[in-house]
Formats: sequence, structure tokens, C-alpha cells
Amino acid sequence: MNKQFLDDVNAGLSANQKYLYSKYFYDQAGDALFVKIMNAPEYYLTNAEHNIFKNQTAELIKAFDVKNKPFELIELGAGDGTKTLELLKYLQGNFEFTYLPIDISENALTKLKNRLNREVPEVNVITQQGEYFQVLNKLKAINETKIILFLGSNLGNMLDENARKFIKQLADAMNANDKLLIGVDLIKSAEIVLPAYNDKAGYTRDFNLNLLKRINKEFGADFNVVNFKHTPEYIEEEGIARSFLTSVVNQQVHIKAINKTFQFNKGERIHMEISRKYNDAILSNIFKDTGLKQTMVFKDAKNYFADYLFEKQDEL
Ligand code: TRP
Repeated sequence: MNKQFLDDVNAGLSANQKYLYSKYFYDQAGDALFVKIMNAPEYYLTNAEHNIFKNQTAELIKAFDVKNKPFELIELGAGDGTKTLELLKYLQGNFEFTYLPIDISENALTKLKNRLNREVPEVNVITQQGEYFQVLNKLKAINETKIILFLGSNLGNMLDENARKFIKQLADAMNANDKLLIGVDLIKSAEIVLPAYNDKAGYTRDFNLNLLKRINKEFGADFNVVNFKHTPEYIEEEGIARSFLTSVVNQQVHIKAINKTFQFNKGERIHMEISRKYNDAILSNIFKDTGLKQTMVFKDAKNYFADYLFEKQDEL
């Protein structure tokens, strides 16, 4: 049994405003649903960032400044690797590097490795399972030039203060020639953003509900998922999308593993995840005092999404 997970569930459901951590979404069923979300027509983020990687491959690699230097291409939260594959195809055979994808899901990493062995067989791939913060220490031990990819607006799943701490720690693990490429979704209207988190096929709903099912399975809880509704929100002024599961009835849920019953009132919400959207000001506020400076920005044809390149600031 995953004790940390159980403690987090207990704390989250005991809180005044109930919450669950989205890092627990990714069991096998969650991984499969996540892939479906990424491919849903409403989920514009995937295509937008893929557009950048496909159309600006040479420019991106030129900006990495790795010609004739061995380097490590490190990806945090690699997922299925579709965007990175554009880079790998270009790099394969012409550059000396190792690709190190890191993901919380072992299952996603296995699939990725198989796919890369098929599609870019010459690329040396070393996968690593872990949470972002666990991985940071290992990064420090790498002496070669590091090109770190943090794509898919995954930064936006952290609260701003956590994002800042995370970037600061990343920066501390970087040296003079290292680069960080960070992909973020840009603030835009609710008509575009909200459907991405509320697709018609219901994948995002099922993805959220799957966490309740996982708690049932792993901790002997009795969540009845039909009593919860997926109710995402997006407030354009602040640029934050939030997912909630809302209890549609007054109900009690028992968790056997801690022998505890939780009351859910009708209309009460469980906060599941945030997906922050950015503009230059919000992003530079997060990067302020982290020791990194922005050097370039790449945008897709529709200006929906941006990949920002950062490097270490010169020491004073
Ligand atoms: N980071 C992406 C985003 O915020 C992908 C993602 C994470 C996501 N959790 C999600 C997408 C939940 C849909 C639903 O959009």
C-alpha cells in the first residue's frame, strides 16, 4: 500500500475545502485516459506545441547551441514523447547525446522507450521514473551540458509559488552552458480554454473520476462515481483553469484502510487540479530571482502556446 498516497487522501478529504493531488491521477487507467485527452479535438495544447516542434525544429536545436558538444537531453514529464520525437529525428546521427525522459508513470516510460527504439533506433534512451522534485538532485550529478525540456504546460499544474520554488531548484542544478526549454499555454478566452478541460467525449471527466476509483481499489473506499460531477472552471482574468468534482447529493464515503467516513454535502466540491495559463508578465514573475534569464521564445502559428528558452544568468 502507498502510505504517502493514503495520508494525502486523508488530509485532502479532511480539509475544509476538500482536495486531492493530481499527481495520483496516473495509474494505468489514468495514463490511458490522459493519452485520450491529449488526442481529443478540444485539447488544442498538444497540437499547438507540436506545431512549434515540427515547424521550428532546426531553430530550436540551433538555440540549444550543442553542435559538436556531447550533451544530455533531459525531459521532465515526458509522457508519450510525440513532440520530442521531432527533435530526436533531427538530432539522431548528427549530434552526440543521450535522451533521459523522466516521468511519474513507469508504464508511460516503458511505452515511450519501445516507441523510440522503433522510430529512432540510434538514439540512446535512459528512462527514469520519479516525481519532479526527486529527480532534481540527480540532475545535479550530471556533468555534461544539460538541455532540460519541461513541456506541455506542466508548470501550470503547480501553484505559482511552487512553480517558482521548482524553477529555482532547477536553476541551481544548471551550469553555464545548460538550457531550459519550458512550454506554457498562453492566456486566452474561455471559449477556447474551457472545452480543452471539458471534452465532449468525457475523457477529462473520466480522468478525474478515475482517481476516486483508484482510491476505492487501493484503499477499500466506496465512492460511487455517479454521485460526482466534473465541473471545470476557467477565469480568464487570472488565467487559471481549475477542475473540481462536485457532489451531486448529500453522501458519505467510507475508506476502509483508515476506517474513516467522510461527509460530502450536495454541491460540495473536491478540488482536483489547476492548469495555469501564462503571459510574459506572469512568467517573468515566476522566474524572477531564480538566476535564469530568458533568451528566446518560440510560438505556434495561432499564438496559443509558447516555448521559452532560459539559461543561467551571468554570475555577478
Ligand atoms: N499540463 C497539461 C495541462 O494543464 C496537461 C494536463 C495535466 C491535463 N493534467 C490534466 C490536461 C488534466 C487535462 C486534464 O493542460
